[in-house]
Amino acid sequence: MPRWFVTGAGGQLATAFEQVLEGEVFMAREAALDIRDADALSAAVRAFSPDVVLHTAAYTDVDGAEADATTAFAVNVGGTRNVVQAVRGTHTLVVLFSTDYVFDGTKGSPYVESDAPAPLNVYGRSKLAAENIVLGWARGMVVRTSWLFSETGRNFVKSILTAGREKAGTGEPLRVVDDQVGSPTYAGHLAAAVDETLRQGVEPGLYHMAGSGYCSWHELACEVVAAAGLPVEVRAITTAELGRPAQRPAFSALASERPVPRLPHWADGVRAAVDRLTALGQAPAG
Ligand SMILES: NC(=O)c1ccc[n+]([C@@H]2O[C@H](COP(=O)([O-])OP(=O)(O)OC[C@H]3O[C@@H](n4cnc5c(N)ncnc54)[C@H](OP(=O)(O)O)[C@@H]3O)[C@@H](O)[C@H]2O)c1
Repeated sequence: MPRWFVTGAGGQLATAFEQVLEGEVFMAREAALDIRDADALSAAVRAFSPDVVLHTAAYTDVDGAEADATTAFAVNVGGTRNVVQAVRGTHTLVVLFSTDYVFDGTKGSPYVESDAPAPLNVYGRSKLAAENIVLGWARGMVVRTSWLFSETGRNFVKSILTAGREKAGTGEPLRVVDDQVGSPTYAGHLAAAVDETLRQGVEPGLYHMAGSGYCSWHELACEVVAAAGLPVEVRAITTAELGRPAQRPAFSALASERPVPRLPHWADGVRAAVDRLTALGQAPAG
């Protein structure tokens, strides 16, 4: 059984991994282990001696990164450098999770691994720099994913459920952008696919793994509202109307040209997340 060291415990993806991994799992939480602290990270990694580091920890606030690039780079680039430094001299596989936001969105069809990245925002630039650090390690693997959601933490699906419940029956619509398209990914589906990939023993390198198919944020919101049976209109607006600080790619769906398992369709992921949230009786907060 492999020994897994997971950074970013408490986050969406780390929590999903916690539910699928078999073997010894060390969950590194920020309060106890800030990945910017090279010495503490190295001591924890070496004490546990993992076969695989699943490096999910990141500064993930895309708009916040525009105002605080220093912190975004310290966590996403400096922290990743520390992870790789901590395993030097060992045979440990390091798996970094990266993003569709390394692309500029002008291709017009799903991006595959051989497409050239050209990030539009600080977050995307920091993640691309982190990718290069991990791919420079002989046992480095980068998994690009996109538009993650789950039952945990803050994410778009939970935000729409919360807002939809507030507005249901009021006649007031939800307003959601329809000119950004991507591949929404249920964290549980990604964790299961990564686990399967690693058990198959694929070569280190760069992989795209996201929910099958693609849609706009507006279509995603419509699917969430339908899955939850909420009587609320979802009105399409433009990115310009929303006016967010970070520029985002207009079309950043991901596909893969490499031998990795395909994830279920994004809409299956939405139904799985909404069903689980409903079963948990959880008031979505996000
Ligand atoms: N969310 C998406 O839509 C998306 C899309 C594509 C790729 N990704 C990538 O996928 C990975 C997982 O994303 P996610 O959605 O699971 O992220 P998330 O829910 O935001 O979780 C990130 C985790 O990293 C932790 N963290 C932040 N700064 C840290 C530090 N200095 N030291 C240690 N831990 C720190 C956070 O702790 P606190 O909560 O305590 O800050 C949180 O537990 C990330 O690498 C992200 O870049 C995400």
